[in-house]
Amino acid sequence: MNHFEYRNDRLFAEDVPVEEIVARFGTPTYVYSSATFRRHFEAFDSAFARLPHMVCYSVKANSNIHILRLLAEKGAGVDIVSGGELYRALKAGVPGGRIVFSGVAKTADEIEDALKAGILMFNAESLDELKAIDATAARLGKKARVALRINPDVDPKTHPYISTGMKKNKFGLDMETALVGYEMARDMTNVEPVGIDCHIGSQLTTLEPFLEALDKVLGFYRRLKDMGIEVTYLDLGGGLGITYNEEEPPHPSAFGEALTERLKDLPLTLILEPGRVISGNAGILAFRTLYTKTTPVKKFLIVDAAMNDLVRPSLYGSYHRIEEVAKMGRPVEIVDIVGGICESTDFLARDREMPAVEPGEYLAAFSAGAYGMTMSSQYNSRRRAAEVLVDGAKVRLIRRRETYDDIIAPEMESE
Ligand code: LLP
Repeated sequence: MNHFEYRNDRLFAEDVPVEEIVARFGTPTYVYSSATFRRHFEAFDSAFARLPHMVCYSVKANSNIHILRLLAEKGAGVDIVSGGELYRALKAGVPGGRIVFSGVAKTADEIEDALKAGILMFNAESLDELKAIDATAARLGKKARVALRINPDVDPKTHPYISTGMKKNKFGLDMETALVGYEMARDMTNVEPVGIDCHIGSQLTTLEPFLEALDKVLGFYRRLKDMGIEVTYLDLGGGLGITYNEEEPPHPSAFGEALTERLKDLPLTLILEPGRVISGNAGILAFRTLYTKTTPVKKFLIVDAAMNDLVRPSLYGSYHRIEEVAKMGRPVEIVDIVGGICESTDFLARDREMPAVEPGEYLAAFSAGAYGMTMSSQYNSRRRAAEVLVDGAKVRLIRRRETYDDIIAPEMESE
């Protein structure tokens, strides 16, 4: 459920017509719904009510500080993967004790910043990283809480680019190496092994891969326990999918039910790192049709958003529903919706049924709240889009459109 709906054929974000937003802020603009963010967070969080748990929203999905603040106010922790995400989370007021730090390439500086912030736990992904965490913690006279990320070798049956828990992936440690890692961690003076971590991929539309991974991780947990290493946190990562088109992913309540069934008698605090399921359908990208062009084989809608704004179609062939901001009931035709970037992969939709849209009309790409703005770039020296947050009838600009000076500013400071 989200709060983008048509009323008399006009698209509304909560109580605000999207036409008003684009008239005021221009295009392309990301428009988010506060009520949808809150609702998705509550639905997810309450699904685990019967277990000790912490929902650590995955910042990479949508990292706007105002969104992080909104979620932190609801009690969310965060999952971060870089010093930049740590910086954002702290600025947004997320307490250090609600931050988990994932990712294969944490630098000594990032580890140091995270230790100083007193984060809950590092999800370490290699033995070398474990040594680096120990060394940095020793230098600072601190003890680092650590989980090792297990690669359970489970096929999440999603797009290969976003599968992370298979043997061939760069993520995590196979179980035998992880056992060595836990022994190392136990013997380190400045590291304390407190958890086990696992994340197998993103946009999963069935529960089976999660449960298969969980079974393997619980087997591993028992082996650790037999070795006298008892952890208290189990981090199962993110990955629950959403509906972009016709997918029917399980509801968070079903996910919660299945995990609760397996974990209810264990002395573990469950951590989850949902990103897309919280933010994906809480945002749209609004843009304007500039031109139409008919060639002997195609019709193109040329629009003012491009792959630098929303790269998912170009990168993964992802589907985003695209509709008019004001519906006129015209007959449909088959078009490609393309941006102005000089690459043939620059498309938002291909061979899509659309009404006969005219230049000047506004369109919206749905399900753009996750991995939209965060994956955007300035390619072709295009300014990144504005971001607007709606709350009931209130509209707030939460990131202004970049200026050309923003684009060149770091170059003006060169020596
Ligand atoms: N935790 C870890 C360690 C992750 O690597 C990810 C996502 C998440 C949590 C959040 O996963 P989610 O709940 O959002 O599925 N750019 C791609 C998605 C990449 C996901 C990367 N890791 C896309 O646009 O589909």
